Amino acid sequence: MRVLMIGDVVGRAGRRAVKDCLPSLKVELGINFVIANGENAAGGNGITKTVANELFSYGVDMLTMGNHVWNKKEIYEYLPKESRIIRPANYPPGAPGNGYNIYTVNKGVRIAVINLVGRVFMPEVDCPFRKADQLIEEIGDRADLILVDFHAEATSEKVAMGWYLDGRVTALVGTHTHVQTADERILPGGTAYITDLGMTGPRNSVIGVRTDIILRKFKTGLPQRFEVANTDYQFNAVVISIDEYTLRATDIMRVFNFE
Ligand code: FE2
Repeated sequence: MRVLMIGDVVGRAGRRAVKDCLPSLKVELGINFVIANGENAAGGNGITKTVANELFSYGVDMLTMGNHVWNKKEIYEYLPKESRIIRPANYPPGAPGNGYNIYTVNKGVRIAVINLVGRVFMPEVDCPFRKADQLIEEIGDRADLILVDFHAEATSEKVAMGWYLDGRVTALVGTHTHVQTADERILPGGTAYITDLGMTGPRNSVIGVRTDIILRKFKTGLPQRFEVANTDYQFNAVVISIDEYTLRATDIMRVFNFE
């Protein structure tokens, strides 16, 4: 079976990329389950029910989030009611929503998806490494395989998490930097790994934001109001192939499409 994991969907261009690319990719690549990082899907900041439903209507099965999860007020009430969206599990206790969920796909295969957020160059949260240990144990045999979206800034933290979880999860992918890395591989313990999936969003931008605004910020050092660019899109993802019998990852392949 094959799982498609789509890199951070940013704004309108990102949603258009999903609409244009996903249906045909699903058929061409024989995809059974689609995960997308949706934390920047609503105007580049957070997610709303309307935007999530739009992505589901294009064929996304579930959404992971990240450090921008709380940006839209409605999420506090909406998250606990929507099992197709998870938020980073290592927010301190009391945060709304779930940090992982289990989905049944393709003739009864139970896929647990865990979302974690990093701590290097990012806001304070609980330890993602210890949280991963705790959740893997908690999930136990309630799932046949585990996929992890580790939403983190530093490549080192993501590489470290890859080694830490190697052999214990089927795939660990990084998100958040909006730049796809070329280090996809199957680690020695059998875990499919990539440091960052990249961005599904406006291609002619600085990681999603209008180029002129970011250049002004760099040149003057003055605070700027960020605005998501609305340009031609790029579509970034990986396809993870999983053996039907052993339920181990056999291959990880990058997807980088653009219009
Ligand atoms: Fe992020």
